[in-house]
Amino acid sequence: MQIKISASILSADSTQLGNEIKKVEQAGVDLIHVDVMDGHFVPNITMGPFIVEGLKRITKVPLDIHLMIENPDKYVESFTQKTEKDDILTFHIEATDDPLGVINLIKGRGLKAGVAINPDTHERTVEKLLESIDMLLVMTVYPGFSGQAFKKYVCEKIKKLREIAPENLDIEVDGGIKPGTISDAASAGANVFAAATAIFAKDDYKEAIEALRKEAQENSFLFMKN
Ligand code: DX5
Ligand code: ZN
Repeated sequence: MQIKISASILSADSTQLGNEIKKVEQAGVDLIHVDVMDGHFVPNITMGPFIVEGLKRITKVPLDIHLMIENPDKYVESFTQKTEKDDILTFHIEATDDPLGVINLIKGRGLKAGVAINPDTHERTVEKLLESIDMLLVMTVYPGFSGQAFKKYVCEKIKKLREIAPENLDIEVDGGIKPGTISDAASAGANVFAAATAIFAKDDYKEAIEALRKEAQENSFLFMKN
C-alpha cells in the first residue's frame, strides 16, 4: 500500500500561502490537505471555495479537501469549480443523512470522494460505504483545530475498518500525527497521513516529511506482515 503524506495548511503561514505550498511541494509531499470549517459543524471558521480555487492555480499536487461543514451536499459544486480527477473531496458522516447521495454528487463532478468519521462515531456508520468511496478519513482528534493530541484509542477502529475495507482503499488519519504517533496509525492500517503542526511548525519541511514517511513505512510493514 502506498504511503502518502498530506500537508495540512491550517498551520501554514497564511500570509505566505503560495510560498508555503511551493516549499512542501519541493519537499515531496503527496497531497495538500485543506481544512474547511463552517463554525457550525465545528467551532472554528477557516477556508472556503475561494482558497481552493487559488490553490488549484498554484500547485499540481492533488488537493485533499476536508469538509467539516453541515449540509455538505449544498457546497459540492462550489468546491469543485477547478478540481481535477486526482483531487479528493471528503465530507463527514455525522454531517448528512444521505451519504451515498453526497458521494454520487462528488463523483459526478469528476473527482475522488472521501468520507470522514469522528473519534467517537461507531465504525458501523461507514461500513456500508466502503465499497463506494475512494478514501476513508479517520479523525484522531475532534475536528476544529490543529495542534491537538493524538487519540490512541481510535487505532482500534482503524484496525477494524482496515480488515473489512476493500483491498487498496486509502485510509487517512488526521489529528496529532507526528513522529511517535504516526507509527501507531500506520501499524493499525492507515496509509495516508495528514499533518499540520508536524510539518509547518518545523524549520525544514523536507526533513519533517521524510521523518514521517520513514516511520510510517517501517510500521506499515508490520501491519502488512500480520
Ligand atoms: C483538525 C484538522 C486537521 C488539523 C491537523 O480539525 O482536520 O487536519 O489541521 O493538525 P495537527 O496535525 O496539528 O494535529
Ligand atoms: Zn483535516
